[in-house]
Amino acid sequence: MTDPLRHHGDVEVRDGDLLDLAVNVFPGPPPAWLRTALMDALDRVGAYPDPARAEAAAAAHHGREPAEVLATAGAAEAFGLLARLRPWRRPVVVHPQFTEPHAALEQAGHDVTTVICRATDGFALDPGAVLEDADLVVVGNPTNPTGVLHPADAVRRLLRPGRLVVVDEAFMDAVPDEAESLAGEEGGVEGLVVLRSLTKHWGVPGVRAGYLLGRPAVADGLRREQTPWSVSTQALAAIQACCTDEARAEAAERAATLTGWRAHLVAALDEAGIEVVPGAAPFVLARVGAGTHARLRAAGVAVRRCDTFPGLDDTWVRIAARPPETTARLLAHLP
Ligand SMILES: Cc1ncc(COP(=O)(O)O)c(C=O)c1O
Repeated sequence: MTDPLRHHGDVEVRDGDLLDLAVNVFPGPPPAWLRTALMDALDRVGAYPDPARAEAAAAAHHGREPAEVLATAGAAEAFGLLARLRPWRRPVVVHPQFTEPHAALEQAGHDVTTVICRATDGFALDPGAVLEDADLVVVGNPTNPTGVLHPADAVRRLLRPGRLVVVDEAFMDAVPDEAESLAGEEGGVEGLVVLRSLTKHWGVPGVRAGYLLGRPAVADGLRREQTPWSVSTQALAAIQACCTDEARAEAAERAATLTGWRAHLVAALDEAGIEVVPGAAPFVLARVGAGTHARLRAAGVAVRRCDTFPGLDDTWVRIAARPPETTARLLAHLP
């Protein structure tokens, strides 16, 4: 395996014809209106991309000002920008969580301090566990891979003068009403940056589209770190298309669908006597026991191994919430 921090779910399904429960992207093709927007954007690839309209659309979508939005090539690009934004003295990553922010900070030459949320506390966020001198804190909400949705107030309690708090909300669209989101905080919150991604909810990992929201000075600073034109014409078209009323209505429907699929998966795992972490993400962290990941793989089912996440080990796997008939194919191989 390469660097465990750079191991992601897509690697689990790269080789072989496996049932993919490792990658948490909404299954199936993107909606027709999004496909149309992506196709139409081809007519404009003769010009360099201009993010202004997409950023204005995202700003309006969250009730923010355009100057508070920076379009990014997926949330992943934002981690690199944040890592290079300042000479961080004490960057802290709250784990277990998506490991890219940690990897990006190390790549930029920083020593990362980790704060571990514990299974015995339901992987809850304890703002008091973060060292007072932390000048950057990265937390996921809802968190990948635990699925835990932290109360917005707990995230707000991380704020301190001179500290930047980054909330990765890549999976927030899957939460009904986006409860606990901080993306729409009116006027922006000093010292807070929220990351959003189109990848998961709209099933477009190949488009590389996302954006971040923060006070104009921070958004500006991050823009200066960005490679010019790094967000493609298609990605910008996708951002704009996902901010319409039609998209908003479909996003809510998808959130309800995912919530139903998750509830079904949780109930089935419960019935099988498997420990499940309560949460609100479109996947489930389950304690299936060591060796289960490999056994499922041999049976043609890919789930996400969790021993690469700081704070977890090989007794855990992350399972994508899928339609009941797909979940049935997993359950056939569980005790
Ligand atoms: C929690 C989380 N944040 C961000 C990302 C990156 O998303 P994007 O495709 O927008 O770069 C992922 C992808 O797996 C993720 O799980």
